[in-house]
Amino acid sequence: MAERGTDGEPGPETYESAFDAAVAADERIEPRDWMPDAYRATLVRQIAQHAHSEIIGMMPEANWLSRAPSLRRKAILMAKVQDEAGHGLYLYGAAETLGTGRDELLDKLHSGRQKYSSIFNYPTLTWADVGAIGWLVDGAAITNQVPLCRCSYGPYARAMVRICKEESFHQRQGYELLLVLSRGTDAQHAMAQDAIDRWWWPSLMMFGPPDDESAHSAQSMAWKIKRHSNDELRQRFVDICVPQAEALGLTLPDPDLRWNEEAGHWDFGAIDWGEFKAVLKGNGPCNEQRISQRRRAHEDGAWVRDAAAAHARKRQEAASR
Ligand code: 3HC
Repeated sequence: MAERGTDGEPGPETYESAFDAAVAADERIEPRDWMPDAYRATLVRQIAQHAHSEIIGMMPEANWLSRAPSLRRKAILMAKVQDEAGHGLYLYGAAETLGTGRDELLDKLHSGRQKYSSIFNYPTLTWADVGAIGWLVDGAAITNQVPLCRCSYGPYARAMVRICKEESFHQRQGYELLLVLSRGTDAQHAMAQDAIDRWWWPSLMMFGPPDDESAHSAQSMAWKIKRHSNDELRQRFVDICVPQAEALGLTLPDPDLRWNEEAGHWDFGAIDWGEFKAVLKGNGPCNEQRISQRRRAHEDGAWVRDAAAAHARKRQEAASR
C-alpha cells in the first residue's frame, strides 16, 4: 500500500480508496500507511485491552508459583508467567506503532478508562485452577487469537503468530496437569472437577457479548481486524472442549450440552450475561485486588523506569560529545 506523501500529493479520497483496496485484497496495513482515524482507534482499543489482559493475567497464576507441588511444575509455571509478560511487551509495542505509548495506555488501565479481560477477575483457589486456566482460559485465548494472525494490521498480526505458539504450550501444560489430577486420587479428581465447574462459564464469557450486543464486531470484521464473530468463536471453543473433557474424564457443568446433528455443533446452555456485565463494571470477585496490585507494581517499578531514562540520557550525552 502507498505510504503517506511518497508520490505527489494525492487527495484524501485516494488514500482512503488505497486503504479499502488493500483491506479487500487481504494485504497488510503497515504503520506508515494511511488509515482511517476510527481504524487506528479501534486497533489501539483492542490491542491495549489485549496487552492489559496479558499483564493482569500474570497475577492469578503467579499466586501459585511458591506453592507448585514439584520443581518441574514450578519451572513450567514460571516459564508460562514470564511468557505472558513478553506477550504484554509485544502488544504494547504493536500499539506504539499506532502512535500510542505504553505510559498512556498504562495510565488508562490504572484509572479504569481501559478494560482487561473479564476472566482475570476470578480467584485461583486451588492448584487445579492452574490447570483449568491453561486448558480453558488459554484454550479460549488460542481460539480467539489464531484468526488474529490474519488481522489486517501488520504489527498486530505478526505479534500474534509468536503469541499463539506460546499459548499453545500454555494450553497443553494445563491439559496435562488436569489429566494427572483427574487420574490421581479421589481428592485430586474432585479438585480438578471443582476447578472446571468454576472456570467453564467465565471462559465462555471471554469471547465477549453475544453478536447482537457486540458494539464493535461488524466494523472490525469489515476491516478484517476480527475474522469471526464472538458467537462463532465461542461455538468453536465449545465444540473443541466437549471431547477433550471426555478424554480428561471430567464433566462440563452444563446440563444443556447436547450434540446437534443438524447443525453439526454442540448446543449449550444460557450464559449468565448479568454476571459478565457486573464483572465489566468492576464488581467481579477480584477486580479491586487486581487493579490495586497492578497500580502498586507500577509505583514500585518507578525507580527502574527512572534509572533506564537516566542511563539513556547519559548514553545520548556521551554520543553527542
Ligand atoms: N472482558 C472484558 N471486556 C470485554 C470482553 C471480555 N471478555 N469481551 C468484550 N469486552 C468489551 C469490549 O472491549 C467492548 O468494550 P469497549 O468498547 O469499552 O472496548 C465491549 O465489551 C463490547 O464488546 P465487543 O464484542 O463489541 O468488543 P470487541 O469487538 O473488541 O470484541 C474481543 C471483544 C473478542 C475480546 C476482542 O477485543 C478481541 O478479540 N481481543 C483480542 C484478544 C484479547 O483481548 N484477549 C484477552 C483474553 S486473555 C489473554 O489473551 C491472555 C492470555 O494469556 C490468556
